[in-house]
Amino acid sequence: MKKLRIGNIKLKNDLLLAPMAGYSDVGLRYLAKKYGAALTCTEMISAKALVYGNKKTLDLLATFEGERPCAVQLFGNQPEIFYQALKLPVLDKFDIIDINMGCPAPKIFNNGEGSYLLGNVQLAQEIIKACKKATNRPVTVKIRSGIDEKHIVAKEFAVAMQDAGADAVILHARTKEQGYAGKVDLQLAKEVKQTLKIPLIVSGDCTDPAAYQTMKKQTGADGVMIGRAAIGHPEIFAEILGLDQKVDKFADIKEHIKILSNYFSERYVVLNMRSHLAHYIKGRQVNTEIKLKLMNCQSIKEILNILKEIFD
Ligand SMILES: Cc1cc2nc3c(=O)[nH]c(=O)nc-3n(C[C@H](O)[C@H](O)[C@H](O)COP(=O)(O)O)c2cc1C
Repeated sequence: MKKLRIGNIKLKNDLLLAPMAGYSDVGLRYLAKKYGAALTCTEMISAKALVYGNKKTLDLLATFEGERPCAVQLFGNQPEIFYQALKLPVLDKFDIIDINMGCPAPKIFNNGEGSYLLGNVQLAQEIIKACKKATNRPVTVKIRSGIDEKHIVAKEFAVAMQDAGADAVILHARTKEQGYAGKVDLQLAKEVKQTLKIPLIVSGDCTDPAAYQTMKKQTGADGVMIGRAAIGHPEIFAEILGLDQKVDKFADIKEHIKILSNYFSERYVVLNMRSHLAHYIKGRQVNTEIKLKLMNCQSIKEILNILKEIFD
């Protein structure tokens, strides 16, 4: 397993947990690290909301002791706001700053943020320059192939980000229009890798050790980011790393809940866990009635009682 270096940050291997809104909370990140992920990242966080001190946004910055090195992902479209956000002490605990230039969600795109920036390279460069001016920490950029198949810009865009000072590029090689449909374009990722001097990390469809090997071999990328396959299955990192780690799913879920409970109210934890639970019990024979009960739980005690039935 090769190590990876992003700017001055040395990572112990080349596997990263992807930022995922609604999923890559401090609990999932804890488990990802426990199973060997070299770097974790928060979900995307509005730079503007941070600057305005929005409480819900600040909640997303929770990290656990021992998480470092860890990254925070910011989105927005105003260089000055990124600059101000990076000067905030609340971000001091993050080792790497990742900028979202790939989010396809209409709310984000129509606001001129996320993947919209793939069509405005000048503004994207100004954002990276503002971030580099604000901090000495490595700044990375997460992009997609382009906005649609007629505008595949990953190669030129990645080079432009490198020229603006970015320390690594993360590529999810699908277009914004594709969403999650179709295959990731590993050939494009290979070409981006060959064009760049800074590290390239590939994201998209790394679901098992074989997929990891294929992605590395076909693209030559320096790192691989794992997203959906880690939801409900954070041990994927150990599987790819070939670590002999015992997995106790029920214990992992309890740990996930415990970590979240260190920071958040029970109501918050319960709502947050609902989206994870369906993934944690995937593959188990659970009747629909119990599944429904689990999805409608109102307390941690209720969740644990139902899980006990499922796992016993
Ligand atoms: C529910 C969900 C939320 C996501 N949220 C983010 C996000 O906040 N920031 C980001 O850069 N990418 C986000 N992504 C994209 C992932 O980081 C990743 O690039 C994509 O899912 C492809 O990788 P995968 O096949 O390993 O999931 C999200 C994906 C999913 C499924």
